Amino acid sequence: MDFKALGIPKAQWVEGNILRGNKLAQEIRKIIKEKISSASQKPGLAVILVGENPASVIYVNQKEKAAREVGFHSQVLRLPSNTTENDILSLIQELNDNPLIHAILVQLPLPPHLHEEKILQSILPQKDVDGFHYENVGKLYAKNPTARIPCTPLGIFVMLSLLEIPLVGLHAVVLGRSRIVGKPMAQLLLDYCNTTVTMCHSKTKHLDKIISSADILVSAMGQQDVVKSNWVKEGAIIIDVGIHRKEGKLEGDLNFEELCPKASYITPVPGGVGPMTIAMLLWNTLQNFHELYGL
Ligand code: GUN
Repeated sequence: MDFKALGIPKAQWVEGNILRGNKLAQEIRKIIKEKISSASQKPGLAVILVGENPASVIYVNQKEKAAREVGFHSQVLRLPSNTTENDILSLIQELNDNPLIHAILVQLPLPPHLHEEKILQSILPQKDVDGFHYENVGKLYAKNPTARIPCTPLGIFVMLSLLEIPLVGLHAVVLGRSRIVGKPMAQLLLDYCNTTVTMCHSKTKHLDKIISSADILVSAMGQQDVVKSNWVKEGAIIIDVGIHRKEGKLEGDLNFEELCPKASYITPVPGGVGPMTIAMLLWNTLQNFHELYGL
């Protein structure tokens, strides 16, 4: 996982202490586009969207556009919310067998009548781009370099790697324990950054004390107004994964205005972690493509 080899200088995407994920994502997309421009076959990404959850509709449209822009074969299957589990499992089976498709993503959340786990585990681990298949979860845990890693924590890891600052031994605090962000984020910080990791969640006691000792703070709570800005240490690296629509504007979990002056680095919302998630979806699709062809 040597992302430093991408050779993207900080000047391209770090402005003062602000980590412009949108600019870094643009550079990564350019690299992916160049890598496949001369390939005889294109990496293929299939996205399955069940129902019309408004946020999911927006995310899936963004994924489709990004995949097309880099020159991937992109297929979006938009299914009605009453689609049966068997229909989805048959569709995934077809995509597993389809040689033009190298990556399959089922957009979450699924409608409540569908068994999320059964559906996610039916995707071939080699075509999993989210890193949700147990084989990939286990590989990440075992520090196996062929693990597919969930796109949001992978994007954060890339940003931290490209900052080229020593992270070894720092205290990283992760807020949130989801399988999409919190847990894989903690694993990456532990095994690939050599930080000391504390995971916090809604039942954590003395959150203020834990946060006040964080050198790196990753907020993936999906909730605003939990963290008081004065808990955060001067000079901390602050990564905000939250997205909230407030009076027509997008905001993160944390108070950017208050935290920016005290952070050594900070991600904005929008334009921080979100675009990196999409860039990593493309990155993982390309990795699947290479592995399936033994390249
Ligand atoms: N819904 C919100 N984020 C994600 C993601 O990273 N992957 C999938 N499959 N669904 C999501």
